[in-house]
Amino acid sequence: MRYQDIDWDDMWRESRSQKSWKKKKNSDWDRRAASFAERNIDSPFVAQFMSRIRIEHDWTVLDVGCGPGTLAIPLAGQMRKVTALDYSASMLSELDKLAKGAGRNNIQTIQTSWDDDWQALGIGRHDVAIASRSLSVEDLKGALTKLNAWADKAVYVVDRVGAGPFDPDLFRAIGRNFQPGPDYIFTVNILYTLGIHAHVDFITLNNKRIYGSREEALQSYRWMVDDLTALEEEQLTSYVDAQLNELGPKTWQFTRQTAPQWALIWWQTR
Ligand SMILES: C[S@@+](CC[C@H](N)C(=O)[O-])C[C@H]1O[C@@H](n2cnc3c(N)ncnc32)[C@H](O)[C@@H]1O
Repeated sequence: MRYQDIDWDDMWRESRSQKSWKKKKNSDWDRRAASFAERNIDSPFVAQFMSRIRIEHDWTVLDVGCGPGTLAIPLAGQMRKVTALDYSASMLSELDKLAKGAGRNNIQTIQTSWDDDWQALGIGRHDVAIASRSLSVEDLKGALTKLNAWADKAVYVVDRVGAGPFDPDLFRAIGRNFQPGPDYIFTVNILYTLGIHAHVDFITLNNKRIYGSREEALQSYRWMVDDLTALEEEQLTSYVDAQLNELGPKTWQFTRQTAPQWALIWWQTR
């Protein structure tokens, strides 16, 4: 078999059809917006991403699936203008609130999806396009092609490595088989088939995570599993309780066996 005989797009679709989690809808993200913002805005992920991206003060950035502004807000402090796209209205209102608090007035938010006609919405090309942890799309090749077309200088994508944010031990604890679905290696290979030879770096987070309460930790773990049964809910609660350590008021430390890891994939468009 030759490398060029492998249809990476087809393999990606096949692997995606076997994943054990359901794609989240915008209403799912709406419900999660406030807690996602609280735990991600100042997370170590932000510092690791910001230390790797190469940007200049007079550049513009398009942030697709921006969430509550995890990256859009720090980027706005270092760049001329940020256009932040997301299909969740609540994520965008979190972003607006946090941007105001941070004194950033150079972020334009637009409620739209990957599949919409960005040209018709008046979204033009930017110097840099980013999509961080937001590549949950039906057509990966199409999304990558779109990012490439909307960036004059560079594209940065943050994609899952293996289970990514999911905790495989949780699935073992509730007796479910876990198939994470395709990860970053498909993205790198699909880019190769598009003639794009991307750089790959990794962002590894701590296996210890602080939550403000036991309930917050439980919510975060419930988010990983679709259609929990009553028995699984009990098993999930026991698993979370076993991993949680109350360090002080509003400080609950959760220890995972496997640290979440992300791939940072980037390339120059010219
Ligand atoms: C895990 S959050 C990532 C947020 C931020 N980029 C970060 O790295 O923290 C995923 C975000 O992508 C958005 N999203 C998911 N699918 C989308 C789609 N098809 N179109 C637009 N936004 C989408 C969600 O609403 C959510 O805000």
